[in-house]
Amino acid sequence: MSSRIVVLISGSGTNLQAIIDASQADDYPGSIVGVVSNKSDAYGLTRAENANIATIALSHKDFDSRESYDQALIEKIDQLSPDVIVLAGFMRILSPAFVKHYQGKLLNIHPSLLPKYQGLNTHQRAIDAGDKEHGVSVHFVTEELDGGPVILQAKVPVFEEDTSDDLAARVHEQEHRIYPLVVKWLCEKRLSMSIVNQDEHAILDGITLPAFGYANDE
Ligand code: GAR
Repeated sequence: MSSRIVVLISGSGTNLQAIIDASQADDYPGSIVGVVSNKSDAYGLTRAENANIATIALSHKDFDSRESYDQALIEKIDQLSPDVIVLAGFMRILSPAFVKHYQGKLLNIHPSLLPKYQGLNTHQRAIDAGDKEHGVSVHFVTEELDGGPVILQAKVPVFEEDTSDDLAARVHEQEHRIYPLVVKWLCEKRLSMSIVNQDEHAILDGITLPAFGYANDE
């Protein structure tokens, strides 16, 4: 049976688009049943409407605490009976209650080679540090911001003349390749998260992945 995917966004939604496109293949094991944004003008909502996917805009500004917003978000998401929740440029820190509620079902994409550059402005920070390579990570979400176990990374080179926008564009291309793939693995239940002694690990096809994801043994 096809897994039910809910995608959370705040902006342009190019990753959402990549997952919409991938999920339209007959053999994709999931379908997007709703897209939720904390910003009503996010272009990603238009992308969802164009693909006939239900949309929900729920502004955090209408709530007086992170906890009350996240509780309302949980209620909206749960009405869609999701199997997989995908953060695709959802630019909010999530409360522990939200993260716990979706433990093992909640994925995020972060534009850096984690554990490097958690937080914002990752491309400029990689340039400023003189890094020769940069990239993107898809990981399970845990209570630690940008800290959950990495499932898959993709690397790109950093060239001397790169601006932050050049680098962002190069990373974005890789984001659109790896995110639909990891979402597919979770839909197929090939992927799970285990917690042993409060240590979270990503498991793919029964094998515990190294700390920074598949094909990465650094
Ligand atoms: C992506 O680059 C994603 O990695 C980043 O937001 C962008 C959303 O782009 N996420 C984060 O920075 C999360 N900490 P999109 O709306 O075009 O998919």
